[in-house]
Amino acid sequence: MPEREETKRSCLPTVHREEDGIAVYRYGLTDSTNLRAKQAAAQGVTRGLFIAEGQSAGRGRLGRSFYSPEDTGLYFSCLYTTHEPLHSFLALTPAAAVVCARVIEKHCGKKVGIKWVNDLYYEEKKVCGILVESVGALDVQSKLIVGVGINLHTEEFPPELAGIAGSLGVRIDRQAMALEIYRALEAYVCDPADRSFMEEYTARSVVLGKRVKLLKGEECFFGTVLGFDGDGGIVLNADGERLVFHGGEITLRLQ
Ligand code: BTN
Repeated sequence: MPEREETKRSCLPTVHREEDGIAVYRYGLTDSTNLRAKQAAAQGVTRGLFIAEGQSAGRGRLGRSFYSPEDTGLYFSCLYTTHEPLHSFLALTPAAAVVCARVIEKHCGKKVGIKWVNDLYYEEKKVCGILVESVGALDVQSKLIVGVGINLHTEEFPPELAGIAGSLGVRIDRQAMALEIYRALEAYVCDPADRSFMEEYTARSVVLGKRVKLLKGEECFFGTVLGFDGDGGIVLNADGERLVFHGGEITLRLQ
């Protein structure tokens, strides 16, 4: 299908069909590619890649925003449909983290680590975040949305991200990288019992063996990271007690 011209700030996407049948919906500046994918899913789209040049309301985990300035990052969402129950996809976020780390390494030539559960780090700064969402949990089929934001060559960050967020410092073919991540993750979505990636998830961890503070809702726990369970839960040694968490957020503690 030939590409249509779009104005930079249009919310109407250009659709370009790839040879292998993945529909790519491309936006200039949009609110959030996860929201675009959700909207498309609600309209019956079952599969597709939603890419934006920038996002005005990029969404992160735990209700946070994701800083998405135009043209300096790669912001995209992968939409899949599954007939498996949603609880089969507990490990989708760690699977996506490993897939993104591998593809970033291949396309950008930078070695990235993983901070539980969904952040990728390069030179001690967060360069990529992943947000998994689902639609239609009670239906016979569910739609899964995996949103990925990668700071490619963003140089300036707002003050609240100073010292936390960083960039890979590369200019690459963004659509090619997003498509590769799309395909690799689709293989996992078709076989969610596969846990072979957990070994690499552990090997790439930047928190393994470290003292962390884990915030879960109003509760706060301290411990040393022992490892990760098969569903990507974090295992802590908290004063001799073994605790496993499948949600929450960790921050590193000075030893
Ligand atoms: C996080 O760091 O907590 C997750 C960030 C996920 C950001 C990506 S950018 C593309 C997609 N659209 C969104 O609104 N969020 C995800």
